[in-house]
Amino acid sequence: MNVAIFASGNGSNAQKIIEHFSGNTHIKIALVLSNKKDAFVIQRAKKLNIPSVTFTAADLRNTKFVQDKLEEYKIGFIVLAGFMIMVPDSLITKYPGRIVNIHPALLPKYGGKGMYGDNVHKAVVAAKERESGITIHYVNESYDEGKIIFQARCEVKESDTPETLAAKIHELEHRFYPEVIERVITEEI
Ligand code: GRF
Repeated sequence: MNVAIFASGNGSNAQKIIEHFSGNTHIKIALVLSNKKDAFVIQRAKKLNIPSVTFTAADLRNTKFVQDKLEEYKIGFIVLAGFMIMVPDSLITKYPGRIVNIHPALLPKYGGKGMYGDNVHKAVVAAKERESGITIHYVNESYDEGKIIFQARCEVKESDTPETLAAKIHELEHRFYPEVIERVITEEI
């Protein structure tokens, strides 16, 4: 199974996923795609010897560029890891039940429009929530509303700031995302 990772930024999750599957004989991270040509994830991919391509939001929406790349690399499963733009319906239709995303909160809370990156942690801290966590879910046509596959929780202390909470959430993401992806591909695909 060839897997593509879509990421827009730092790419720490992408790196953990790539490392997790290196040496796996059944599942291969075959391509990293980003809508930001300066994203650090591209440098990480280069260092880890994974091919990467960049594209614009308009390429994704209006052309077959991304789909052609996915075909070229025989991609059968897509992982979103900090990918900041909406996946077009055309791609969702092409990969039914084969696209997963990670959200840095306990959906259905703190999901939807505007709830990405640090905005999520700011909102959780501002609401004085006592717990947050991660949600790994399938991607469908609506923001953050696909079927939930896995959640993990962490405590939010009164002393937590959006930054300290982000660090806790990243730890959970790194610990669980690679193994949940492996389970989904192995058991359900
Ligand atoms: C993660 O917190 C993920 O949940 C969110 O974007 C962040 C990406 O982090 N969607 P990184 O680029 O993998 O370091």
